[in-house]
Amino acid sequence: MCGITACVGGDDAVGGLLTGLGNLEYRGYDSAGIAVQNGRGLSVVKREGRLARLREALGTDRPTGSIGIGHTRWSTHGPPTDENAHPHQDCTGNVAVVHNGIIDNYETLRQNLEERGHRFESETDTEVVPHLIEEELTAGASMESAFRTAVSKLSGSYAIACMVDGEDVVYAARQGSPLVLGEADGRFFLASDVPAFREFTDRVVYLEDGDVVAVRPDGYDITDLAGAPLLREVDTVDWEPEAAGKSGYPHFMLKEIHEQPESLRQTLHGRVEEMAGRVTLEEFDRGAFADIERVQFVSMGTSHHAAMYAAAQLTARGLTANTYMAGEYADCPAPIDDSTLVVAVTQSGETADTMNAIRRARDAGARTLAVTNVVGSSVTRECDESLFIRAGPEIGVAATKTFSSQVVALTLLGERIAEDSTGVQRAEMRSLLSGLSDLPGDVQQVLDESTAADVAEALYGCDAYFFLGRGPAHAVALEGALKFKEISYEHAEGFAASELKHGPLALVTDNTPVFGVITGEDDLKTISNLKEVQARGAPVVVVAPANLADKVEFADYLLPVPETHPEVAGVLANVQLQLVSYHAADQLGRPIDKPRNLAKSVTVE
Ligand code: F6R
Repeated sequence: MCGITACVGGDDAVGGLLTGLGNLEYRGYDSAGIAVQNGRGLSVVKREGRLARLREALGTDRPTGSIGIGHTRWSTHGPPTDENAHPHQDCTGNVAVVHNGIIDNYETLRQNLEERGHRFESETDTEVVPHLIEEELTAGASMESAFRTAVSKLSGSYAIACMVDGEDVVYAARQGSPLVLGEADGRFFLASDVPAFREFTDRVVYLEDGDVVAVRPDGYDITDLAGAPLLREVDTVDWEPEAAGKSGYPHFMLKEIHEQPESLRQTLHGRVEEMAGRVTLEEFDRGAFADIERVQFVSMGTSHHAAMYAAAQLTARGLTANTYMAGEYADCPAPIDDSTLVVAVTQSGETADTMNAIRRARDAGARTLAVTNVVGSSVTRECDESLFIRAGPEIGVAATKTFSSQVVALTLLGERIAEDSTGVQRAEMRSLLSGLSDLPGDVQQVLDESTAADVAEALYGCDAYFFLGRGPAHAVALEGALKFKEISYEHAEGFAASELKHGPLALVTDNTPVFGVITGEDDLKTISNLKEVQARGAPVVVVAPANLADKVEFADYLLPVPETHPEVAGVLANVQLQLVSYHAADQLGRPIDKPRNLAKSVTVE
């Protein structure tokens, strides 16, 4: 997992590359590097650590040039060091390569190259690529042909960009890792993701697996590996450059929490016919799910919690719905039949565990559907169908707005599946749709009125933090705990409220606050559980709809949400918990947008 970028044309490649790397740092921040050429050889500068260290190394006397490639790294092979930072070069120093992904056969390739006299500087899998290119060039091949031959020897996943001294071209290839091309006026960009160059252009080409692209200052050619020309559409990105910046917030996470009214409006746009009491998903014809009797969700992390939320809803509608950690499913898939739909839930659309699970399901003959935020992502290419959550780019490593949009998109999908497969439109759907229509405004109210910062401050420095809930609120409790631990580094755990007395209660003390998620009258048993922990001295924080205030007045702290449908209240409760986690981490001085050891998009198992 890494971010790559390239800038071709114009007179300040370094500026374009640094902007791109800054916007891609969410993909990894173990090291950063660039290579530029300006007719006086390749200038390569790279540093372990955050981009700021590379900027420092470049200083004011930075190299000039109109063509360059750049990289921000999340270590897979070899620790974060200057040597392991990209770009990597061949023995002559004429070739520079950046890579995102994993080259599975690099050990064999490296051994063979070493036997033929190549010296390696790093421990990375990537470094075999410039050496393979060098061999072809030495044998008299053109750079283009050398690049194709080198790439054809690789197995694994890659998005690779490369340059050779003296040629005004960046060559790139994609197989299993994302790569997009941006067309600006007089300038072209390549990157792992659109935010890298969004401030320069909104015109993008989503490259596909097997594509090879040669980008020159005056244009580009896309071909397959054998050299046959390919046509790829130019799309227009519909979000503004500011959407990829912090817009005045101290952290992307806080900005993204505050973007939720807008992102939820986008998720819902055109999909809810409140008056008719219908859900319309233009992606699926009416009756599209008539044959579906069971749904298997495969997902990881926060997306897994959104899937759990959806599975609880579908189960309540009489369908068989199960959730699987995608990494486990990939090793041991659940049995499927003709009536099974396997749904991959993944914000990035690139998570390796989820991709592998979906491949297993597809190979076993399952119908597959991707629920994702990223148009053109790998999961959309592997699945039969896709449903986009339309949350806009999410830069903070901790998923926030995408969870809310996933839950809403999955709720709508669940209604469509339930309606098609049972042939009945649920009478209760109207109140759910009304709750969904009000959701953006209700989230705004939570954001405007929340006292989460005060709660976080009052509970600062406790031994551990526990989260309880039932049904969909269990998924919210797990998500609350995940968010809390990943950005605050404090111990946090979520439990089904029913599980409490079967073990976790032994952990409860007067220094372990317990957060209870209540979404409606049906959750009142959770209230009994909260009273049990309170009797053992634990400070109790209740997140609940305001109309239940009299039932939860025993709580030490109350974080109310507007009265709404119980299946919508979970999303609102989660916004309160996002704010608690954010403020707890902020008060502890944590690097909120880039928690240690984590990266935004986990493209290795
Ligand atoms: C937590 C978080 C991760 C991701 C997980 C799956 O805040 O962001 O747990 O949810 O890595 O990522 P996607 O949804 O991209 O498949």
